Amino acid sequence: MPPPVNVYVGSPEAEDALVQELTTKRRHPRPVAPGCVTLSAQLQTDPVFARHVLADAQRIEGRGRDDLAQALFAQLGEHEDAVLAGATRLAVFSPPAARPPRGQKPRSPLLGSARDLAAVLEQKRAGRARKRATDPAPPDGSRIDVLLVAEGAAYVTAPFTPDPDPMLAWPSAFPGGHAEVADLPAPSSAYRKLVEALRWLGDPLRPGDRAVDLGGAPGGWSYVLLEHGARVVAYDRGDMDPGLLARPGFEHRRKDAFVHADFTDVDVVVCDIIDEPKRIVSLLKKALPAAPRVVVFTIKLKAPLEAAKVRAIKDALAGDHAYQLRVKHLVHNKTEVTVMMRRR
Ligand SMILES: C[S@@+](CC[C@H](N)C(=O)[O-])C[C@H]1O[C@@H](n2cnc3c(N)ncnc32)[C@H](O)[C@@H]1O
Repeated sequence: MPPPVNVYVGSPEAEDALVQELTTKRRHPRPVAPGCVTLSAQLQTDPVFARHVLADAQRIEGRGRDDLAQALFAQLGEHEDAVLAGATRLAVFSPPAARPPRGQKPRSPLLGSARDLAAVLEQKRAGRARKRATDPAPPDGSRIDVLLVAEGAAYVTAPFTPDPDPMLAWPSAFPGGHAEVADLPAPSSAYRKLVEALRWLGDPLRPGDRAVDLGGAPGGWSYVLLEHGARVVAYDRGDMDPGLLARPGFEHRRKDAFVHADFTDVDVVVCDIIDEPKRIVSLLKKALPAAPRVVVFTIKLKAPLEAAKVRAIKDALAGDHAYQLRVKHLVHNKTEVTVMMRRR
């Protein structure tokens, strides 16, 4: 059996940046599927360009789904009883999808095959459990991740229990690092970026929160904040969606956020302004003395994405121990990363 490896899962578009981020003189990551790279060395905690990791994963191969399922059960060993009982869940997923043309939904080429494999595994699990008269047990939060990287090959982890707080969890609390985002009738599709970040932050918004939305137009992010019951002040010289202007608890200040943003008594600060990373980081640092509970900033980069630039940004923010910090290239980020901060 080949030795286990760590499989980092990011975006196909950011694969080079992920490889750069994980490479050292002695460590050379190897791409195994779009957006997925393996590294045999010690586990790296929380790279920006990976949303998930399969730690110490074993590669299994088989001629068809049945064969693969067989190989998977063969290596469960002492953990098989927990899987048969249903206490440990098998989470099967495919490599992340490449960004599709505008208006189309992303779809991984192996999505259908991963679903088929999940069905075959469930069938086998139920069959074996019946045969051995295994008593069912409630799910205990433990998971075995199965990443299908080709029709006949997958990586499989040992059982693990992710931290239930997504802001602390690594491996990610979300299978494949993909936090689901529901469709919403928001004024812009940018709302998806904020919803995804809020899920990583453990859904930290509370009704009555005072929120500041920097670069808010046309209003996808403000819409999300209002839907959570926040009172929102949006700064943007551009027009906000008229539907938002009519909502109680919403105020539009048609002003330059760098000059006029007021962070007094604020609970939540979000920013989606397109500007130089240095200026955005300075703006974020200007907000922190007000001690907001939640901070979400996107930082726009230039293509191609480069790990060194992002490392510098992360280093510039890492010093504030009052906050938990994560910087991630999320599913809904294109040429940008999302800074997520939560007050301890
Ligand atoms: C990517 S859009 C924001 C989209 C928004 N988050 C949404 O959900 O609809 C960036 C916005 O930043 C605004 N912007 C750029 N520079 C700004 C500044 N100095 N102050 C305030 N807003 C600014 C732009 O006018 C633009 O509306």
